[in-house]
Amino acid sequence: MRHALAAQLLGAALAAGLILLFVPSLIVQPLATAAIQGLFAALASHLLRGPVWWLPIHLAFMPLAVLARGMGLPSWIWLAGFAMLLLTFWRTDRSRVPLYLTNALTSGALAELLPDAPIAVIDLGCGDGSLLRRLARARPDCRFVGFEHAPLTWAWAWLSCHRLPNIEIRLGDFWAHPLSNYSLVYAFLSPVPMQRLWNKAKPEMKADALLVSNSFAVPDIQPERIVEVADGRHSRLYCYRPADTYRPGPAGPGHKRGDCLAISAIEGAVDAQ
Ligand SMILES: C[S@@+](CC[C@H](N)C(=O)[O-])C[C@H]1O[C@@H](n2cnc3c(N)ncnc32)[C@H](O)[C@@H]1O
Repeated sequence: MRHALAAQLLGAALAAGLILLFVPSLIVQPLATAAIQGLFAALASHLLRGPVWWLPIHLAFMPLAVLARGMGLPSWIWLAGFAMLLLTFWRTDRSRVPLYLTNALTSGALAELLPDAPIAVIDLGCGDGSLLRRLARARPDCRFVGFEHAPLTWAWAWLSCHRLPNIEIRLGDFWAHPLSNYSLVYAFLSPVPMQRLWNKAKPEMKADALLVSNSFAVPDIQPERIVEVADGRHSRLYCYRPADTYRPGPAGPGHKRGDCLAISAIEGAVDAQ
């Protein structure tokens, strides 16, 4: 967030300097001025090594703000829009985990990983609860818990899941919740918290419990298995057994004891979805 603010301010300073020096008449044309600011903000973000996905946001932010202002909408609309975004995405700047959802094919691949016996499953950051709904319908014998800290997203998940008796949607920070009661822990987060998740999972998860991470691998840990999903984005489910894994030492690659990497292509298994 600080990086984004710095890029915007740098962009504004550079655009203002350039315009005042070379084309002062442009300063009365808000859209052109905003477009130049956007260009410099994107450049500044790139130079500050900001994430690539911020570039279009920097390019478009000020021009869109100028266009929106021209629409003459009442000021409360902006406040309401900001509140909606805040309640939906909450502190993404801190958690570094935005909202995106597990698709139906990947949900199906995850359902295939559930053992025949009934177990307890937790979704760390359950979003709108759509993954849990699919799993709960597929496996009414299992118990599913979802934690979500964004209030509006949680409310959506709670409302859409409360009719299913085997789902519990909880509002709160999953980092504060122990993982010892679950046989499968599911995470679809981002690369940033994966090391922290591992540090939490290893002492807390019970022996043989499975940690499944959609798309993001734990650094330097060999998964027990990678499930490749035949969806458009080539999702991968990284499967670990944290209680039974050791980290590679400096002398060699090191793997989980007695395991080798297995890559399973889940194709057709979830065609029914
Ligand atoms: C990428 S989404 C995944 C949603 C869902 N698990 C799925 O796969 O469809 C991650 C979710 O985790 C939530 N989240 C991030 N950090 C969290 C935390 N510390 N506690 C609870 N929820 C969190 C975000 O608000 C977001 O809704």
